[in-house]
Order: sequence, then structure tokens, then C-alpha cells
Amino acid sequence: MNGKITFTMIKPDAVANGHTGKIIDHIISKGFKIVAMKYTKLSKEIAGEFYGIHRERPFFNDLVAYMTAGTIVAMVLEKDNAVLDFREIIGATDPKNAAAGTIRNLYATSIEANAVHGSDSDENAAGEASFFFNAFERF
Ligand code: CMP
Repeated sequence: MNGKITFTMIKPDAVANGHTGKIIDHIISKGFKIVAMKYTKLSKEIAGEFYGIHRERPFFNDLVAYMTAGTIVAMVLEKDNAVLDFREIIGATDPKNAAAGTIRNLYATSIEANAVHGSDSDENAAGEASFFFNAFERF
């Protein structure tokens, strides 16, 4: 059975470019309920740990530098089939390949500065949500 939550971040480029409100509105309009949200800035240690799975990839250092360059908005979202439905509305990792009307098509500027993160599995969604939020911060 598919799970009910996913985890997302509005990334530094999208926050800096003033897209936070439009992206939150877009997410809510697609039927997701925000059950936790915080505005924060990642340290190199936290970003490195979060993206630990990509540690050996050639883009890892750039990714950490980019993700720590500005404020982000972290959220836990609830909906039936949350992980897959959210990946559908954000579009492909590279905005050049993101379908029209998806969040990355509308707001991303490059494969790295791609506006939002979305969990890729129920297991990762649960891990990422509890990495960012404790039980008292989720409703
Ligand atoms: P996300 O899916 O949030 O998690 C991994 C991130 O790494 C991805 O978004 C992009 O921001 C970045 N990324 C993935 N592939 C590449 C790539 N080929 N070059 C640069 N950055 C990438």
C-alpha cells in the first residue's frame, strides 16, 4: 500500500526568487495538506547528511554548496499516494524535461537549482520527515 506522507523542501533558488507563496499555494491546490512546515537554513553538515546517498556523485559538493547558500522551507505533506502524486506535480529533476504546469517547469532554473525536493519512496519520506521534524512539530 502506498503511504500518506511525503517530504519536500522549497530550495534556496525558489525562496530567493520569491516563489515560496506560489509554490505552497500550488501544492495545496493539488490536494496536499501541510502537516509540518519550517523556514530554515541548512549547515554543510546537515545538508551533507541529508544528501548522504549522493556523497559519491560528481555533483555532491556543488549540491551541498547550493543547498546551504540560502534559506529553505521544509514541509511534510499528507495525501493518499503522497510520494508518487507529489513527484507528478513537481515534474522531472531537470526542468528541461519537466512537463508543462509542473512546479519545476514553472519555477526551476537548472537541474541543480530545481526549486523543490520531493521524496522518492515511502521509506525515504518517513526518514526525511523525521530528520527535519520531531513529533511535536507535526500535526
Ligand atoms: P533532488 O531530487 O532534490 O535531490 C538530489 C538533487 O541533486 C537533485 O534534486 C538536484 O538538485 C541535484 N542533482 C541531481 N542530478 C544532478 C546533476 N546531474 N547535476 C547537478 N545536480 C543534480
